[in-house]
Amino acid sequence: MQNIVIVGSGFIARQHAQAIQEEPGVRLAAFVNPNPKNAGKLAEEFGCAYYPGLREAAAGTRVDVVDICAPTHLHEQYAVEAAGLKCHVLCEKPVTFTLESFDRMVSACRENGVAFMVAQAARWWPEFVVIQDYLQQGRLGEPRMIYEKRLCQLPPWSTWHRDPKKSGGGLYDLNIHDIDFLASILGRPEQVYAVGHKTPEGCWMHVATSLTWASGVRAVVETCLDMPGPWPFSIELRATGSKGTLHYNLQAGVNIADGQSNSNFTWYPAGEAQPQELTAPPVDMFRAEIREFLDAVREGREPSVTVAENRLVLEIVLATLRSLEEGRAVAL
Ligand SMILES: NC(=O)c1ccc[n+]([C@@H]2O[C@H](COP(=O)([O-])OP(=O)(O)OC[C@H]3O[C@@H](n4cnc5c(N)ncnc54)[C@H](O)[C@@H]3O)[C@@H](O)[C@H]2O)c1
Repeated sequence: MQNIVIVGSGFIARQHAQAIQEEPGVRLAAFVNPNPKNAGKLAEEFGCAYYPGLREAAAGTRVDVVDICAPTHLHEQYAVEAAGLKCHVLCEKPVTFTLESFDRMVSACRENGVAFMVAQAARWWPEFVVIQDYLQQGRLGEPRMIYEKRLCQLPPWSTWHRDPKKSGGGLYDLNIHDIDFLASILGRPEQVYAVGHKTPEGCWMHVATSLTWASGVRAVVETCLDMPGPWPFSIELRATGSKGTLHYNLQAGVNIADGQSNSNFTWYPAGEAQPQELTAPPVDMFRAEIREFLDAVREGREPSVTVAENRLVLEIVLATLRSLEEGRAVAL
């Protein structure tokens, strides 16, 4: 039985807690949050303890894994502390803002002999899994062009997302899902060029990035974390290759947890054949990512979301930031 402590007790902490409760071989031991009002409520709901800090948690219970679900600017400090306590580290995305910060997190884990994985849940999003299969098994033919879109309102449950120092804006917070997906399939792009909207607080909230690979594949990724008005949480992924086009389109409610999702997923084969509606096998992405991390810990192997991939994704986001700030294409 592996004991997990979740740092933070907000939106994503609840999703992780639900997933952990359903997963065999693991126990949710506690929430960590200096705000007892917030943590106490969730601890009561999930029947576990809560502590103001990681050190107190480690003194009060056995902790094998620390699952960091706190605002992004706190990820590094908690990852380094957890590693120092010899706990394996699962960290929400975006992992952090700079390569130097990322390297400190990874070094702390390596020096203490603990595992580290970034919780890139979209890797297990059911339709994304099917699209990845089509691409990797050649069913799409030669890939030509990929378009990804992820647009939502500012999360109504928090204010820290507006602060570039705490969230990095849409450029980091949402964009990272799609950049991670592309980089995990296509590897390092040659160049990025981005345009976007920056808020008066200095947050790049709405960004459209074009990416080119030496193989000839092109992609465009559009991200927005502050759509005005009642814009629904929406995702689109269109992948076109020589054998046809896969198209996934989702409109949820205010956020992905609303359950009001309205989606379609279609394969448009090249030539005369008719479009085909697809159904992706259901996957609980939060359970799947947590299971992958715990399996990797048990088996003593690197998790499938690798440190090299996470570092590359950060490099791409940082190149995108330079492109936005300098108004030019940036090579990688
Ligand atoms: N994978 C996904 O799909 C997904 C979705 C949403 C958020 N996230 C990521 O998860 C992280 C948290 O986002 P959220 O939406 O849950 O935010 P949130 O505001 O809902 O929750 C943050 C929690 O952290 C707590 N907190 C604040 N300061 C703290 C501290 N010093 N120590 C410990 N806890 C502290 C808050 O009290 C709150 O409980 C962010 O990095 C975000 O990008 C990922």
